Amino acid sequence: MKDIMQAPFMIEMMRTTANMYRLGYDERNGGNISWMLDENEVGEYLGLSNVIRTIDTGFDATALAGKIFIVTGTGKYFKNVEFDPENNLGIIRIAADGRTAELLWGYSDGGRFTSELPAHLMSHIARLSIDPENRIIMHCHPDYTLAMTQVHEADERAITRTLWKQMTESIVVFPEGVGVLPWMVCGTNEIGEATAEKMKEYRIVLWTLHGIYGCGRDMDEAFGLIETVEKAAKQYILTANLPKANEITDENLLALTKRFDLNYRKDFLDI
Ligand code: 13P
Ligand code: ZN
Repeated sequence: MKDIMQAPFMIEMMRTTANMYRLGYDERNGGNISWMLDENEVGEYLGLSNVIRTIDTGFDATALAGKIFIVTGTGKYFKNVEFDPENNLGIIRIAADGRTAELLWGYSDGGRFTSELPAHLMSHIARLSIDPENRIIMHCHPDYTLAMTQVHEADERAITRTLWKQMTESIVVFPEGVGVLPWMVCGTNEIGEATAEKMKEYRIVLWTLHGIYGCGRDMDEAFGLIETVEKAAKQYILTANLPKANEITDENLLALTKRFDLNYRKDFLDI
């Protein structure tokens, strides 16, 4: 068996959580990441028949039966992951019944996966139905995105247009726009179902007065989406009370969609 601490997915989880902590996206235990791993790759590091314990998921994830995920632990701090991954992360496999997670590694103090597992696994199911290559679901609490949800109308078309108009790269990075949920109780199956429904349409979902969800084929895609939305939200907050001397028009946005051949939300432009 190879040393799991040297596994590329382990190193990337440690680097990403540390980076997000230092960016201020994940205060205390804020935020969570799940990554669907390749069974053959995990098998190079772990005996796949060695189940440490089982944990009830509390919802039906039959569509993911047999799939293996590395997932941040509930109550764990992103800042600590790189120093003690075996306590702060876990590798789980969804059992055939779809309601049991088999712990293959981690959560060494007896802990369990993030309280947002419903939103993560339901979003994985939704994204895989759109893009079979999707692997990552990522949630965090970046400041300007969160601030924007306090002051901006919680309407997908309106908030997408505002984000697109903050900086040229926005529409290039998220041409499908962003989904928005109203304030809801977090850590529930209900918010999981609502998030997954939005994930069929968008790779970014804002949770009003809470944070953001992003997804992707790899960590760079999921994180890149979130940091681009956060940067646009920062522009919005920095300039919201200032008179605008220049702005990106709908014609400018249309020109970008042509230049970059974007599959964008046409009904989100006033053209
Ligand atoms: P967990 O500690 O359970 O991952 O919860 C953090 C969080 O961000 C809840 O939305
Ligand atoms: Zn959260």
